[in-house]
Amino acid sequence: MNPQMPPKLSLPGVKNVVAVASGKGGVGKSTVAANLALALHMGGKAVGLMDADIYGPSVPIMFGLGTVDQKTTPFPVEKYGVRLMSMGFLMGPEQAVIWRGPKVAQMVQAFLGQIDWGTLDYLVIDLPPGTGDAQLTLSQSAPLTGAVIVTTPGEVSLIDARKGVKMFREVKVPILGIVENMSYFVDPAGTKTPIFGVGGGMKLAVESNVPFLGELPIDPRVARCGDDGEPIVRKHPDSAVAKAYRDLAATVAAAADASPPAGLPDVQL
Ligand SMILES: Nc1ncnc2c1ncn2[C@@H]1O[C@H](COP(=O)(O)OP(=O)(O)OP(=O)(O)O)[C@@H](O)[C@H]1O
Ligand SMILES: [Mg+2]
Repeated sequence: MNPQMPPKLSLPGVKNVVAVASGKGGVGKSTVAANLALALHMGGKAVGLMDADIYGPSVPIMFGLGTVDQKTTPFPVEKYGVRLMSMGFLMGPEQAVIWRGPKVAQMVQAFLGQIDWGTLDYLVIDLPPGTGDAQLTLSQSAPLTGAVIVTTPGEVSLIDARKGVKMFREVKVPILGIVENMSYFVDPAGTKTPIFGVGGGMKLAVESNVPFLGELPIDPRVARCGDDGEPIVRKHPDSAVAKAYRDLAATVAAAADASPPAGLPDVQL
């Protein structure tokens, strides 16, 4: 074993740990992670959502929460039936985290290992953008069942998503598949208009030989719901996006179940 490698944490009560990642920022990872977690929960599963974005946490806003007093509200914080942990519960949005990498990695490991997640079917992890230190540490130390990579259809996002695929391959974390977000806009007449290009997610899935998990439409309500603290899958369950999220949850659940269980020792041949 590489001495530089952080120790693998074990989460005995957690059946599946699914990381939501992307190379590029702003493609909708946090939105996908939140709606995926809620869709899994609404399907009857016990679900946690861990926000690994220490510098730019999104989970509190998307779930209508602010900082939390640990004395009265023990971690993880439960909202809409999902168990949540985020740096945003410890520091308000106006406070800046100015830590260096190792301290960020320690905090992420504490979120994973020192919080009593209880028994969960799925722990979804919202990763920060990029393929740097934070992502690597987490990929190596968390008992990941697999990663879901989010991209948008355009070429720039694809280049970065490809780097994400490469990183997970290098640390031997299975890639559950690629999901394409903001694929098209559906106008009131039902016509689908692609805004950011066509077919990029599928192209990357084919060239990387990983499953394509589907397309998520653009809907201004997605952003509004995120800002208002109630993700669209719960706020507008009848919308096309909510349906797409439920389909995604079913596909991810099937892919995770087919993957080896989380927490197995990291065997290196
Ligand atoms: N399908 C969608 N339709 C419309 N808006 C969307 C959609 N998906 C995400 N958004 C919006 O796009 C913005 C970026 O999304 P989000 O914060 O989830 O991205 P991210 O990849 O987590 O970003 P970061 O890299 O900064 O962590 C948000 O305002 C979000 O509400
Ligand atoms: Mg994010």
